[in-house]
Amino acid sequence: MNDSLEIRHLYKTFGQTEVLKDIDVSINEGSFTCILGPSGSGKTTLLMILAGLEEASDGEIFYHGENLTDLPLEKRRVGIVFQHYALFPNLTVRENILFGVKNNLTAKEKDEKLARLLDLTHLAGLENRYPAELSGGQQQRVAIARALAINPRFLLLDEPLSALDPANRSRIGRELREIQKKAGVTCVMVTHDRTEALALSDYLIILNNGRIEQAGAPAEIYDRPKSAFVATFAGGMNLIEMAGINEGQLTGIRFADVGVAQATESALSRPFTFTGELVAQEFAGDFVSAHFLLNDFKTHITALVARTNPVADEMKTGALYAVSLPRERWCVWSK
Ligand SMILES: Nc1ncnc2c1ncn2[C@@H]1O[C@H](COP(=O)(O)OP(=O)(O)O)[C@@H](O)[C@H]1O
Ligand SMILES: [Mg+2]
Repeated sequence: MNDSLEIRHLYKTFGQTEVLKDIDVSINEGSFTCILGPSGSGKTTLLMILAGLEEASDGEIFYHGENLTDLPLEKRRVGIVFQHYALFPNLTVRENILFGVKNNLTAKEKDEKLARLLDLTHLAGLENRYPAELSGGQQQRVAIARALAINPRFLLLDEPLSALDPANRSRIGRELREIQKKAGVTCVMVTHDRTEALALSDYLIILNNGRIEQAGAPAEIYDRPKSAFVATFAGGMNLIEMAGINEGQLTGIRFADVGVAQATESALSRPFTFTGELVAQEFAGDFVSAHFLLNDFKTHITALVARTNPVADEMKTGALYAVSLPRERWCVWSK
């Protein structure tokens, strides 16, 4: 059995408000799991309960069969990394990393541990600097090294990349992933950024309003979303809410499945083809991301127009095009 972390029927109530409802999920040893959801969906609360910083109202947490539910933070031995690095500004990199390490280690053992962690996080040579003398990415790596120094059962990260500048985020995300793989540690990371979650995780938990909407491999969630919420939140999906189309159900179509052509009479006579005004477009290399307002004046449709489509090179914002939503590509969910 590969499940290392098991969360069983977890609930959390603050006063009258149920913030987590029946969270029930298993996480594999050595995996990188992302908890993705909108602001207020309960992500941080779930992480705090896993850390032992917050108590569950009901439910249990197991690690390899051992019940952790009532273990306090100091006995739980989990590594925690927050959005703001929370390094001690008056301590060096070395002192920050070894801060939580037990005093029963000899000086030599501590040095060995430090060297291993500096190597793992590519911080060798910086051990005598203070946090203010490091870049944001380096500070975050110190925070990760400090969290790993206690040999945690698992590592918990709450939006660890969101304070970094956007240009460095994806690189630092990849570094984090590489450190996690090398250390072989089970990681649970909270994020509200779907691109980050899809790119980094091998298991994705979508949280909405305190409930798990769907959990699975990122490709599975992207390709086979179980609900319209997951589909639109994981991205790449338009919702079609038009009179005469599957009323009583929710219908979606992927950005990549929308057809775009010149607004000729023959193009517009095809089934489920509408006149759409191009309201915005973004060049994205092999395709153009095009945003249309259909002639019902309320349906917004995004299409990925391949550069190989003859229409791609001459699209003008404000002009009208034939936008088709082929029926065989619809995704349908019950409301
Ligand atoms: N200590 C608390 N007391 C009362 N309500 C809280 C507390 N912590 C969080 N909440 C509420 O729980 C909900 C989920 O919060 P949180 O877990 O921080 O969400 P997220 O991290 O997904 O943005 C929010 O509605 C928030 O206001
Ligand atoms: Mg949060």
